[in-house]
Amino acid sequence: MSDVFDFSGRTVFVAGGTSGINLGVARAFARAGASVAVLSRTPDKVRAAVDSLGECGVTALGFVADVRDYEAVAEGLAATCTELGELDVLVSGAAGNFPAATESMSARAFGAVVDIDLKGTFNVLRAAREHLRTPGASVITISAPQSTVPMTLQAHACAAKAGVDMLTKVAALEWAAAGIRVNAVVPGPIEDTEGMGRLAPTPELSELVARSVPLGRYGTAQEIADCCLWLASPYATYVNGAVIPVDGGWSLGGASEVFTAMRNLLAG
Ligand code: NAP
Ligand code: COA
Repeated sequence: MSDVFDFSGRTVFVAGGTSGINLGVARAFARAGASVAVLSRTPDKVRAAVDSLGECGVTALGFVADVRDYEAVAEGLAATCTELGELDVLVSGAAGNFPAATESMSARAFGAVVDIDLKGTFNVLRAAREHLRTPGASVITISAPQSTVPMTLQAHACAAKAGVDMLTKVAALEWAAAGIRVNAVVPGPIEDTEGMGRLAPTPELSELVARSVPLGRYGTAQEIADCCLWLASPYATYVNGAVIPVDGGWSLGGASEVFTAMRNLLAG
């Protein structure tokens, strides 16, 4: 491994880092030698993630919290950073999603996704701010193509992730003076994830999604992790306030159309 991607002696916290893409990101930093901590709501998932991260031979910690609960996030982070020290890298990726039409989605359903994705990201960034290394910390929010591409059945996720992008840019603007960079990574459809399992639940829909990506395939969690490693590396020290698609070109076209096609298929 080149020294540039050697994260030995560095500390990384991943909110929502117990499954899917975020766990892939946490694992990549652990493999690169960093001490890594994660949070999510489910005790068994937190335990399993900490065990698997520890297998990389690094310090691995975790705590149970719902990102909608600011106090729980702040208390857990304070305890974690007492053990780990200041954070070099903060990744905020907890999210929830399901397909639902705007005319039939309940107000609580819309609110649940906005509360987790957008307000949860605020809670994580706000609570972590005092623990970030200054200067030098790299903050990465995990957005989605829904933030810029309108998609049917996705009003909640589109609204929430658009907010995540803007929150990312404002934090980048405000925290730059302290030497903290804040950027968003925007995954396209990623294979074997809860998110795509919910949005394209049949082999037929899954195929349709793959074909709608200009590169013609799903991405991998490792490809998202690679972008996060780069953002936290000395190769990206002038990158601040960027919203970076890692999506095979999906958000250039295809992403919106495939959701309309999926809605029509689901409607029979
Ligand atoms: P996932 O496996 O369900 O990951 C979500 C993570 O967040 C889990 O660790 C989950 O653990 C945690 N979480 C959910 N709600 C939470 C809450 N209220 N408080 C704390 N933790 C919570 O999903 P994924 O598909 O890999 O998605 C990961 C991220 O990538 C999300 O931000 C998503 O929007 C983004 N993304 C995904 C795709 C894709 O193709 N999958 C595409 C674009 C963007 P618990 O259930 O234990 O809480
Ligand atoms: N379609 C329509 N509405 C739905 C829904 C669906 N598939 N799933 C949940 N809802 C509604 C519920 O009915 C409820 O509204 P109501 O009280 O008016 O009936 C509201 O959303 C909240 O549901 P609840 O189960 O109480 O929320 P929660 O806070 O326990 O869970 C979710 C949050 C709904 C986002 C849940 O799907 C979740 O935990 N997701 C995390 C994993 C995930 O989505 N991963 C992919 C990341 S991109």
